[in-house]
Amino acid sequence: MDLTEDEERYVDTFTNAFRINSGDFDVIFHWLRNDFEQEVVVKLTSSFGCDEKISVLGVGAGDGSMDEIMIGKLCQHFPRFSYTVVEPGKAIEQFKRRVDGKDEFKTVDFCWSNITYEEFCRSESESDPKFSFISLLHSAYYLDNLGQSLRCLMGSLKDGGVLLIMLNRDDHDTTIFLNSLSWKATNTHSGRIDEIKAFAASENIRLTTFTFLSKLNVTPCFDETSEEGDKLLDFLTETAYLRRTAPARVLTETLDVLRTVSKEGDEGTRYFKGACDAILLFKGPE
Ligand SMILES: C[S@@+](CC[C@H](N)C(=O)[O-])C[C@H]1O[C@@H](n2cnc3c(N)ncnc32)[C@H](O)[C@@H]1O
Repeated sequence: MDLTEDEERYVDTFTNAFRINSGDFDVIFHWLRNDFEQEVVVKLTSSFGCDEKISVLGVGAGDGSMDEIMIGKLCQHFPRFSYTVVEPGKAIEQFKRRVDGKDEFKTVDFCWSNITYEEFCRSESESDPKFSFISLLHSAYYLDNLGQSLRCLMGSLKDGGVLLIMLNRDDHDTTIFLNSLSWKATNTHSGRIDEIKAFAASENIRLTTFTFLSKLNVTPCFDETSEEGDKLLDFLTETAYLRRTAPARVLTETLDVLRTVSKEGDEGTRYFKGACDAILLFKGPE
């Protein structure tokens, strides 16, 4: 079964296997803490006055651990703003708890939408562009129709606004792994960045890209007694309960490909080389 169809398993594999083995988070947190302000927030201040109450949108924000950093940086430049969270999963409740009652966020008006972006887009389609900043951090994989969503996202961005999309690149070993599995007809990773760049070129949208390199420890996947390994295997193959449900030949092929694509680390460990891009799309003239 497709992992995205089993929310409980998806969250479990993301939180208790992927997150603790991925170096991605440290690298992204570092960029958000040290560069996001200069690369995004300061640019927004040249388009939107600090006395203006801007609107911000976070799509697929999960538990909000990354959004929290962005909100903190926005607070330093915009005394008041609204922050709309579109997150279809239960993780939205963790996000609410994270910001609830925090003194530093008391000037932020949070609007919670526990729906998919596609549903949100349909409900917004008649309204004027209203957002100054929109982010999709590792969530654009799950949009049904990326092209349509990009049009909707850019359509709801004000002139001078910025859209930030973070995604794994095609040279991320996870993408190479997924593309090498003969039993997997499609995956959510391949070609997404190319599609965004082609869309930006066709619409004359300026963009800037930052690339983050990291390592993902895949060692637990090779231990058939490891629950964490089973979960990581599910997350990487985008399949729920792969080890328990897949035919033997599928499991053998999957582990063979995993071994071939992964690299040898210290003390018998194996890892994937990670590469993701943060793409900033700027609406309107320079
Ligand atoms: C890999 S998690 C990323 C969470 C968070 N942004 C982060 O980087 O830690 C992907 C998130 O996208 C959400 N998601 C899945 N399908 C979605 C959709 N159609 N619209 C919006 N969000 C979606 C999931 O519920 C999940 O929280």
